[in-house]
Amino acid sequence: MHKLGLAMSTMIASTIRLIRPPQSNKRKRPQHVVSEKPTRTMDAYAAEVRDLLRVSLEPQQLLDMSDKLQLEYRAKLEASEISMLPSYLHTLPTGRETGDFLALDVGGSTFRIALIRLGKDESGRDGLQVRRIRSFVIGKAIRDLKGRAFFDWMAERIGDMLAEYNHIQGTTDANLQMGLAWSFPIEQTSPRSGKLLAMGKGFCATLGVEGQDLSELIMHSCRARKLNVDMRAIVNDGAATLLSQAYRDPTTRMSLILGTGTNAAVFLPCSTLGTGKFGVRPSSWHAAAEHVLVNTEISMFGRHVFPRTRWDDELNSKHVLPDFQPLEYMITGRYLGEIARLILVEAITTAGLFAGDVPEKLSEPYALDTRILAGFQKDTTRTMSKASAAFLDAHALPSPPRLSELHFIREIAQLISRRAATYLATALHALWAYRMEAEELRPCETSHITVACDGTIIEKYPDFRAACQRQLDELCILSGASKGAVSLAMAPESSLFGAAVAVSCIADD
Ligand code: GLC
Repeated sequence: MHKLGLAMSTMIASTIRLIRPPQSNKRKRPQHVVSEKPTRTMDAYAAEVRDLLRVSLEPQQLLDMSDKLQLEYRAKLEASEISMLPSYLHTLPTGRETGDFLALDVGGSTFRIALIRLGKDESGRDGLQVRRIRSFVIGKAIRDLKGRAFFDWMAERIGDMLAEYNHIQGTTDANLQMGLAWSFPIEQTSPRSGKLLAMGKGFCATLGVEGQDLSELIMHSCRARKLNVDMRAIVNDGAATLLSQAYRDPTTRMSLILGTGTNAAVFLPCSTLGTGKFGVRPSSWHAAAEHVLVNTEISMFGRHVFPRTRWDDELNSKHVLPDFQPLEYMITGRYLGEIARLILVEAITTAGLFAGDVPEKLSEPYALDTRILAGFQKDTTRTMSKASAAFLDAHALPSPPRLSELHFIREIAQLISRRAATYLATALHALWAYRMEAEELRPCETSHITVACDGTIIEKYPDFRAACQRQLDELCILSGASKGAVSLAMAPESSLFGAAVAVSCIADD
């Protein structure tokens, strides 16, 4: 019998509930109370949630999805302005690159600036060193900055780091070469620039400047502050992650980002891309390039491949960019909590969860932080007191939830994250299979490749990476590969390191 057990079915509130008067002595109180009778039992609702979220997790169905995704990849490699974007990088780092660089990392929720030194230290240890690092939260106010205002905000922080570099070097006006890892799509027009494309993730910075040169926008704001910096390389964060790991591990051929957003990069033969995808590039580039590092924007794939539930549909229809990033809306940190919130709100309003009380703020879109969900999976104790405290701290309830209700939240977290890991593994399997075909390799004879991973969900969400690896192994074996053909390896600080490695690779070019 399932954990939720009979206790759930007894939770039906039998009377019409009244709106409670405000209680001045209580800091937190429920936002509103549901006044309808539940229309079904929690057991019935839980069973439905389980069925809907587990649909199509059978290996054979996943392989079919992978086949369909490969067709989508092929079509977009041939022609698409927003996905399968080729960078200018046509070789991978050797691991012998050296120098001091200013690395910028604009992510979905933080802007980080670091002084990076490439090259082994005296003792021959790691070739990637962070000498100084600063991190700035990108809250709503920053995401709302429009056009140049956003780049001015960046330049101000670059100025502070430059001042610190001068301080530690004992210089007054040192010049620093900058590399930028940009966690958004970009249409590269040179190794150091590209056209700004719609950013997603709730950012307004492209308003009025979409299509303009990203490097110029940043440099304009830097020049206005007389900062002695040069933008030398711009790479998508997925590409940066691949580069940073390739610097350390020569088997790296793919990367995965899974945090606020998701993406993958892959090193592919140039012949897999339509000629129109390269834009205007010097003939010397084409003469030298056999392969190219491609930013897949994998988040945009799978709209007609991955089965969606009514909660996915609701999330999608209320999104500012409906259908823009279907995979992302099902698997990333920005959305896992929201999917769970929609399921919980429906459970409260139709099946009597929490006796019909909507906890504080839970009716606000995106109010349920994915970290709280992760907490439920992490807290394996019977009472789940830690997870429960974190939930109630953010979403107060008039009376404590029952144990069976906490189990329900945990199960939702497990189902949503399991589905996410499975669909992600399928998308990665498709990319791996596509690359093998492009390289004319057969699964049984392929050598092992590493997928460089970064992002809070793949790094920190309980059991996520292991679940994704298990699923990937299963799919690769079904395709004829041996176990361990593809391994997901964490690449710490990869956006920053990758931005610096990109500068060094391009400088060597
Ligand atoms: C989003 C962006 C993509 C980025 C990814 C990971 O999906 O579109 O460019 O790489 O998030 O940060």
